[in-house]
Amino acid sequence: MNTRESRVDKEDMSVKIFIDSARLEEIEKAKHYGLLDGVTTNPSLIKAAVEDLKKKGESIDIAGYIRKILTTAEGKPVSLEITETSHREMVAQGKKLFALFNPVANNVYIKVPINPSFGNQEDRDYQGIQTIRDLSEQGIPVNCTLIFTPEQALLAAKAGAKFVSPFAGRIDDDIRARADIPFGKADYFPAEGLYQGDVLLDDNGIVSGIDLVRQIVEIFQNFAVETEVLAASIRNARQAREAALAGADIATLPFSVIRELLVHHKTAEGMEKFTQDIVPAYADLMK
Ligand code: G3P
Repeated sequence: MNTRESRVDKEDMSVKIFIDSARLEEIEKAKHYGLLDGVTTNPSLIKAAVEDLKKKGESIDIAGYIRKILTTAEGKPVSLEITETSHREMVAQGKKLFALFNPVANNVYIKVPINPSFGNQEDRDYQGIQTIRDLSEQGIPVNCTLIFTPEQALLAAKAGAKFVSPFAGRIDDDIRARADIPFGKADYFPAEGLYQGDVLLDDNGIVSGIDLVRQIVEIFQNFAVETEVLAASIRNARQAREAALAGADIATLPFSVIRELLVHHKTAEGMEKFTQDIVPAYADLMK
């Protein structure tokens, strides 16, 4: 396990913003705006990007497309997810993806689920953790994904993962769904949890996605674990703020949420008023 003296010794003193997208134009925009610390992709995001390209009638060269993402990110980490579900095949695929794409810009992280949840019940839950250990031992940086408990995060870190990705929004979805509370995907869920009558809803002691992030951060602090906490499945600006407050090292955000971070109606109103009040003599100063 990578360890550190304290979280303030980290190289980067601010929460890093990754874009959670495989859409090249979004990644390019985030970079152009100076807001790109990294990129996370997964099979669903790649599917969405490929479907966009098809709609535009563009021919798809997926390898070329991924190379463009890697060069656009200019050395910032890009997570590419494996799709196999057994240890041996996951390792082989991780090594292949890394060998194929890391030479492009030296920024590939292999995204490995904490367990692939497929296959023989007896040993299926150990496939991910063995893969994380093997890839990490071979110097391949791993982003361990689909984390829903602090203990999954701790074991992934012990196996050598560089990043662990708790899926905050999906915990909130699960808590609401199990309590039969209707919700939209981007609806805010309180970090401190939600009461139904007198009962604080939870998932085995986790009261929200942000609480999951906070508990992982606290455990990593307790043991000076160097693995970075990458808050994922973030659905709105307030949740991104709360991920930072919880001490996440990284928040990976859809492009729409990155934009939302910049917006407030009083900013717009203030600009309108200032613009109305510009006297020509003041404007002339800046000509
Ligand atoms: O980074 C994980 C993310 O892509 C999943 O997000 O909103 O589909 O739960 P979401």
